[in-house]
Amino acid sequence: MADFESPRGMRDFYPEDMKLRNRIFDAWRAAAVASGFEPYDACVVESLELLQRKAGEEIVNQIYAFEDKSGRKLALRPEMTPTLARMVVARQGALPFPIKWFTIAQCFRYERMTRGRKREHYQLNLDIVGEDAVSAEAEVIYTAVAALRRMGVPDAAYRVRVSNRALLSELLLSLGIGAEHHPGVFVALDKKGKIPREEIEKLMREAGLDDRACAAAFDLLDIGSLEDAAKIAGPGSPAVARLHALFEALEDFGVREQAVFDIAVVRGLSYYTGIVFEAFDTAGELRAIFGGGRYDGLLSAIGGKPASAVGLGFGDVVVGELLQSLGLAAETHLDGVAIGYMTDDERRHATRLAAALRAEGRDVSLSLHPLKAKAFFSTAAANAAEAVYIGPDDRAAGVAKIKNLATREQREVALP
Ligand code: HAM
Repeated sequence: MADFESPRGMRDFYPEDMKLRNRIFDAWRAAAVASGFEPYDACVVESLELLQRKAGEEIVNQIYAFEDKSGRKLALRPEMTPTLARMVVARQGALPFPIKWFTIAQCFRYERMTRGRKREHYQLNLDIVGEDAVSAEAEVIYTAVAALRRMGVPDAAYRVRVSNRALLSELLLSLGIGAEHHPGVFVALDKKGKIPREEIEKLMREAGLDDRACAAAFDLLDIGSLEDAAKIAGPGSPAVARLHALFEALEDFGVREQAVFDIAVVRGLSYYTGIVFEAFDTAGELRAIFGGGRYDGLLSAIGGKPASAVGLGFGDVVVGELLQSLGLAAETHLDGVAIGYMTDDERRHATRLAAALRAEGRDVSLSLHPLKAKAFFSTAAANAAEAVYIGPDDRAAGVAKIKNLATREQREVALP
């Protein structure tokens, strides 16, 4: 046994793990760029004060915090959104709003480890700042779906559950529960199914609700359809109208089928103000694949001018598990060339051929020492599309054969 292991919940990525991670990252990046999002980045170390907001949010208790040698209170970010907000506020006067930005951010949360939850994960973040229209929600949801499609995930394998905190607010107001209690109620209701009902009720009482209001707030989560919610909200509900507009935009994007209304999606972060959504596998085995929503108050809360914002976080851990469970995790696309040689006399020919093919843009794995043919083919075949094995006869003829490892077809190549 080695003396050291990676710290609990932190991940080592061996080359075989990097293949899957890179495929996920490539799909994320390609989908984000195809939808016109621009990349940005920031350091994983953030000021603790920016990350600590209202108490009661689980994420605040999960922060890895430390002091630097000058006594600054710092932390490893648990999410990217406060950093994004800080960066936008710093240039709020100069940026051409609306802006569409994306990043792949490493995040740290001291979580209880369960399936799909690690203490370190990567998150695609897609955010649009400065757009009130529901077209912003549609764009981020569509782009996350497009990334899943690029990974080969079938549309039927997941559903994006959509709700609107503004709708819950309208319904809470109709029950006589004042707006000042709503943020606390949202964070409490998000815990439904995760912690016992008594604990949720305790949280709601802390948010200022009496027993009758607690029970009524709970019952709201049982509303089964948008039509039923609309009936309770009454005609002209702006929150219902926004949801209808979002579903219509998703239809135009060709992803309507994946989206469903679910009033019980509230989200655990307190900064969301409007539409919220979370994607889950249809098999119901995994945690959320991605989640996000509208957060129109965050920029002003950290000292900026008021600005509307919408975004989502899409983690690598859960989608990795989804790909595994769908049998989509294995690498199927190989395009490199492996070059091997029998004796030291063929080394220089092999090296020159490798250099020539690399100069043409091919990925070439060149053996570092002579190998028997059997040993070469058993390792080369695992990672390459084509293989060239150079023996004394090839050297004498000045020609070798490139073998397609899938079709067994061969073609000749002059040895440089
Ligand atoms: P979140 O729901 O906390 O939202 O995280 C987003 C996604 O990150 C989750 O759906 C999950 O895929 C992944 N994730 C979160 N925690 C872990 C963990 N411990 N282990 C593995 N995966 C995890 C946010 O973070 C918001 N800041 C998203 C956002 C961006 N909202 C607006 N813009």
